[in-house]
Amino acid sequence: MSRTVIYPGSFDPVTIGHYEVIKRASKMFDKLLVGVLVNQSKKPTFTISERMELLREVTADLENVEIVGFEGLLAEYCKENNINAIVKGLRAMSDFEYEFQMAITNRKLNPNLETIFIPADSEAMYLSSSMVREVASMGGDISNFVPNCIHDKIVKRFQK
Ligand code: PNS
Repeated sequence: MSRTVIYPGSFDPVTIGHYEVIKRASKMFDKLLVGVLVNQSKKPTFTISERMELLREVTADLENVEIVGFEGLLAEYCKENNINAIVKGLRAMSDFEYEFQMAITNRKLNPNLETIFIPADSEAMYLSSSMVREVASMGGDISNFVPNCIHDKIVKRFQK
């Protein structure tokens, strides 16, 4: 049986921490969808299509990875597309409560849907998109935080 899973998130923008999770998950499953979704508690800097474009560049050499974007419920999307597992990266313990709450809610909405947690690489433990945005917006060096191939695009975006 071919196994497709989804790695959902805001990816505003994608960081090396996200990329690390994508690479590792892409080796574990037949197909990995990376879902750029709306988090209602965040006000995004990049549009969904900008975030998708950055992710496409970053994952260009990963053959079994596809970037998708949608505005509805993740649990519904999974039901409609026969996806039975969500992959999430876990950084510090501080992520855990929020991630656990989402995992349980998603399973209540769609009882076939499991969430699989992948521990973050130690390098990415304290990295977040909001840190990248803050440093970039103040002209700081983000080269250790985002994949090389999209570095200049992100820097430019904050110079607008
Ligand atoms: O990277 P984030 O912001 O922590 O990711 C959160 C995200 C986008 C995965 C979450 O907000 C989400 O699943 N949004 C889609 C709408 C939805 O299904 N909400 C219920 C979540 S239990």
